[in-house]
Amino acid sequence: MTKQYTDKEKAPLGNIEEWEDDLKVRYPKPKAEQAKSKEDYRNYHDSERVDTVREFYRLNHHYQTYDFVTQKQQDYLKFDKKEMPFWEAIDYLNTLVDDSDPDINLDQLQHLLQTSEAIRADGHPDWFVLTGFIHDMGKVLCLFGEPQWAVVGDTFPVGCRHSDKIVYPEFFEKNPDFSDERFNTQYGIYEPNTGLENVKMSWGHDEYLFHMVKDYLPEPALYMIRYHSFYAQHREGAYDHLLNDHDKEMFKWVDKFNPYDLYSKVSVPPDAKALRPYYEDLVAKYLPATLKF
Ligand SMILES: [Fe+2]
Ligand SMILES: [Fe+2]
Repeated sequence: MTKQYTDKEKAPLGNIEEWEDDLKVRYPKPKAEQAKSKEDYRNYHDSERVDTVREFYRLNHHYQTYDFVTQKQQDYLKFDKKEMPFWEAIDYLNTLVDDSDPDINLDQLQHLLQTSEAIRADGHPDWFVLTGFIHDMGKVLCLFGEPQWAVVGDTFPVGCRHSDKIVYPEFFEKNPDFSDERFNTQYGIYEPNTGLENVKMSWGHDEYLFHMVKDYLPEPALYMIRYHSFYAQHREGAYDHLLNDHDKEMFKWVDKFNPYDLYSKVSVPPDAKALRPYYEDLVAKYLPATLKF
């Protein structure tokens, strides 16, 4: 039976952007570049937000078990819930963040466009630009009533011991897998360097979107989409013992992508209307007109 969560358990954050704001505190832009961009991190430090983010991770680390992920995969990877034109999904994403919050001056479309435009400005191939543009589309999981901690948050492998390099590692003690001897050794159910293809990740927008688009984009794009929230690996190298050589090669792309995701915020927001024709063509080049959710 599916567990029912209270509203408080489902939505510990004021909105799901607070997770990404917190990431910028944890992984601030290197000093030299900060000076250039004059980015203001002041907003991210207020203590109320620290508390909600902490509660968010408490729930995430408590409930994201091997069985929980298996259940979500069975439920969502059939893609039998809804068919939506691509641009309708984008419009939906934009309703996720409450723009009455004065701290939030960026809607989802703006975040996607700032990411993709920064990639485009650096002269990367068009599929990389497209990756920036769609990378957070998996957040449509909110449409189906998923708790925030099953949509966003740092992702991590399930089925083996949780690394202490994952943010708030102490919260894993309440996770049933923590005391399950199938899962609580360094390798758990996996072989050394088995390759991430064989590793189940905690459930969220990354894994969901990966499966949605895996037939349409080149492999580096798929790695960027699937592992962009796997901070314990791409920032901390905490799971080198599960990656194979091919993963390590592909993670160069994940590393390349991350700064565009975290630090591409610009003071003059991109003109969504003017950019729309370019992105319509780009989306049409790679993706079907209607996506299955
Ligand atoms: Fe994301
Ligand atoms: Fe993002």
